[in-house]
Amino acid sequence: MEPVIDARALTHEYPDGTTALRDVTLSIGRGERIAVVGANGSGKSTLQLALGGLVEPSAGTVRYFDQTTDADRVRDRLGVLLQDPDDYLFNTTVREDIEYGPAQLGMSRRAADERIARLAAHLGLRDLLDRPPFRLSGGEKQRAAVASVLAFDPDVLLLDEPFGAVDAHYRERVRELVTDHEGTVVVFTPSLDLAAELAERVVVVGESGSIAADGPAREILTDSDLLRANGLRPPAAVQLFEGILDGDEIPLTVAAARRHLVDELG
Ligand SMILES: Nc1ncnc2c1ncn2[C@@H]1O[C@H](COP(=O)(O)OP(=O)(O)OP(=O)(O)O)[C@@H](O)[C@H]1O
Ligand SMILES: [Mg+2]
Repeated sequence: MEPVIDARALTHEYPDGTTALRDVTLSIGRGERIAVVGANGSGKSTLQLALGGLVEPSAGTVRYFDQTTDADRVRDRLGVLLQDPDDYLFNTTVREDIEYGPAQLGMSRRAADERIARLAAHLGLRDLLDRPPFRLSGGEKQRAAVASVLAFDPDVLLLDEPFGAVDAHYRERVRELVTDHEGTVVVFTPSLDLAAELAERVVVVGESGSIAADGPAREILTDSDLLRANGLRPPAAVQLFEGILDGDEIPLTVAAARRHLVDELG
């Protein structure tokens, strides 16, 4: 599979001496759905910033689309959603924030307007478009930030905790957008339930930003010992069924667990 991002031996130390990445080698293939999971402070956001070219790692290289190591040359193909939406929304109105990417990339006005209207409707932002972003609630800001990243239709989405403050209704809406995205998706999250819903491959970031495991979602998400050793817990459905069903039959999501129960009981 052609790598869209190929990271080799990334190490990152912040100026105060904190090591946040340790010898991370990670190749992301076109079209892959990956969840990068790890405990708080393990290094997920630092890895996202390094892969997105927003932090220069102390050592190692990141290569994009087999072409370049300069992220700025492929900026229009990378959708980097930062963990804190306040780092994202800096224009006078929500509309300007969402229009910013398409305008920078020279998308036609009409194409941009159509895309923005669709995203705003889907994410419940229509009535908020003319408001200043700092007047939004936490979940509204997060939805606006998601819209501003998706607005320019990047090939690769690098999304740091896109659901943190989002309620159940809009969580589903954001999930649909991410699932329907035709390119590559990498979600960075401490939520194994989210990983179970979105990912076919799971990367576990262990202590001090080293990769503790990288493999098919089912294999990683049903490995309680591995997850617990890295400060995590399996998804709720796995906790419910582990020790009751065989590893390859354990449902990974609540929806799959429900289907299993309905089949068994019905
Ligand atoms: N700007 C910074 N300066 C110094 N240390 C930092 C900085 N940002 C993060 N760190 C430290 O680097 C380590 C990794 O942080 P990072 O934000 O990448 O973790 P994370 O896995 O994203 O955590 P969370 O789940 O809480 O978002 C932590 O020890 C953190 O305290
Ligand atoms: Mg983080």
